[in-house]
Amino acid sequence: MKNKTIITIDGPAGAGKSTIAKILAERIGFRYIDTGAMYRAITLKILRRNMEFTDTVGIEKLAEETDIRIDFENGSMKIYSDGEDVTEEIRKKEVTDNTSRVAAIPGVRYKLAKIQRQSADRLMKVVFEGRDMGSIVFPGADLKVYLDAGIQERASRRWQELREKGMDVDIEEIKLSIKKRDRLDESRGLAPLRVPENAHVLDSTDLSIEEVVNRIVALLDR
Ligand code: DC
Repeated sequence: MKNKTIITIDGPAGAGKSTIAKILAERIGFRYIDTGAMYRAITLKILRRNMEFTDTVGIEKLAEETDIRIDFENGSMKIYSDGEDVTEEIRKKEVTDNTSRVAAIPGVRYKLAKIQRQSADRLMKVVFEGRDMGSIVFPGADLKVYLDAGIQERASRRWQELREKGMDVDIEEIKLSIKKRDRLDESRGLAPLRVPENAHVLDSTDLSIEEVVNRIVALLDR
């Protein structure tokens, strides 16, 4: 195997990308990077500053000035924004609901893609998970996966996850919110959610986490 090895996992919200990327990375001795966390960290900073999401010039400047770093603790990725650990806070609903808008801003994507490529150079063997990893950021990746799942399954996984955290949420509301995010991510002009060229499409609707990971490992072994 050559030194730098990049695996990309793209797909819609709730397809299980983060879970799969983390377990796969552990299994094969790679790092994994959840790139959605970077878009979320910028969104959190915008919310804290009470900026308007229409202020694209201001947001691009803010993104350029923000120091986004990632680190690992017991194999889990931590994300730091200007030195502060925001790993938990970026999962808040308000952040989730607004990140698609921030992810459509060119200067934000430019800045984060730069950090992602630098991370690849630094960490060398990485599973990158996001929306444009195989299409735009790492078109020459060693293995590209597009992970999909039916909307009902994606919503019910998210519902289960929130219930485990003690939150009482309506599954229909989750479905609507996922659909809205997908629509925004797929329709933006820049780096929209797409099946990357040469990507292996995996539908995880009827597969366990273990089965999905096994299939990706089998693709790697080929
Ligand atoms: O995967 P996630 O839910 O944490 O992603 C949050 C948002 O960021 C989602 O709207 C898609 C966007 N995103 C993106 O545009 N490009 C990426 N590489 C990763 C996430």
